[in-house]
Amino acid sequence: MTPSQSSSEPEIPSVANAAGLLFAEQYGKEPSWIALAPGRVNLIGEHIDYNDGFVLPMAIDRYTAIAASRSDSGHLRIVSREMSEPIDVPATAIRCKGQPDWSAYVLGPLALCAQRGLEVGSLDAVVASDVPTGSGLSSSASVEVATATLAEAICGTQFELMEKAKLCQMAEHRYAKVPCGIMDQATSTAAIRGHALLLDCRSGSYQQVPFSDPDVAILIANTNVRHALADGQYAQRRSECSSALLKSGADSFRDLTTADLEKGSGQMDPVEWRRARHVVGEIARTLAAAEAMRACDWNALGTLMYESHHSLRNDFEVSCDELDAMVALAEKIGPAGGVYGSRMTGGGFGGSTVTLIAANRADAIRERLESEYRQKTDIEPTLFTTRPAAGSFLARGGAEGNKSET
Ligand code: GLA
Repeated sequence: MTPSQSSSEPEIPSVANAAGLLFAEQYGKEPSWIALAPGRVNLIGEHIDYNDGFVLPMAIDRYTAIAASRSDSGHLRIVSREMSEPIDVPATAIRCKGQPDWSAYVLGPLALCAQRGLEVGSLDAVVASDVPTGSGLSSSASVEVATATLAEAICGTQFELMEKAKLCQMAEHRYAKVPCGIMDQATSTAAIRGHALLLDCRSGSYQQVPFSDPDVAILIANTNVRHALADGQYAQRRSECSSALLKSGADSFRDLTTADLEKGSGQMDPVEWRRARHVVGEIARTLAAAEAMRACDWNALGTLMYESHHSLRNDFEVSCDELDAMVALAEKIGPAGGVYGSRMTGGGFGGSTVTLIAANRADAIRERLESEYRQKTDIEPTLFTTRPAAGSFLARGGAEGNKSET
């Protein structure tokens, strides 16, 4: 994190240029629009967006870019740098049927935009992304939000930010068939540079929490495993949480404390009880983490991250050996070596950890984690530092999005 982050000028990520070049190569003309949206890393507040909780994610400086121009083909023709099969559908009948799987993340938002009167019409487009896929960093949300941002630019209108996030979440539910919460799409939409996003998932309101101390950095470690049960277990956790809440007698986990749970746990089975304990504890930890961040108390924030990980491992049961190993290796380096805290991030069962570190120790910590994780698991991890980046915006073809700092 550097002081230059507090500037309100958006930096144009290199993937925007890559999308523009590929567009020119593919269609022999320049794109009229290039829309961008970032991936995210969740600092704390895991598996509580669908439980009315607070979450504290930030956008990462990895983006999906969509370059596009109008065409007279009558079709939506969309090529991806990362996916081999292109999308080609009639512009007036946007359906994923018969299209490659990745089309859900582009055609889903476009179909929902069209239902709200934002018809993009006949288009040529190119998608390029440097958000790692399958790593718990919300590559799919970045594609959805970049697409909705493109539709806004083409139609010369803008959704309210949370409305746009909800449209993209609905696209994920309906077209990609993933029953996700609102965190990923909200972060990709509403984040601003140099800040984490404290999002109240019950009301949809949010605060931008300054997070630009140049002395600390965020290290993401992709374990490079993704266990097959991830998707089914996500839906199962959602239903275990609903039945736990029903038996608690409360309308929302937000109205419960751990003490309340202890008093009224008689009805819950042991699994529901542990899920509820995670949710109620994690909501409190997230609010405490936002306070620690505001106070630049990195030891306190780090401790809350470890507590979150333990709760996700023991009570919510969404961690796995590789995530636990990466967190334990970071914890072993400890504050003396520049590590304040570490935890799994995202849905779990593989993917990435997020670690809060001293910026001047970043290289040493990264190298040590890489080599010790490789030794322990025989798997090559991918590690990189990132900083709180900006939510969706246009690199070409329209007014800036939500770039200003609050
Ligand atoms: C996935 C979902 C999010 C959220 C996290 C867990 O990333 O897409 O909505 O539920 O898991 O915190």
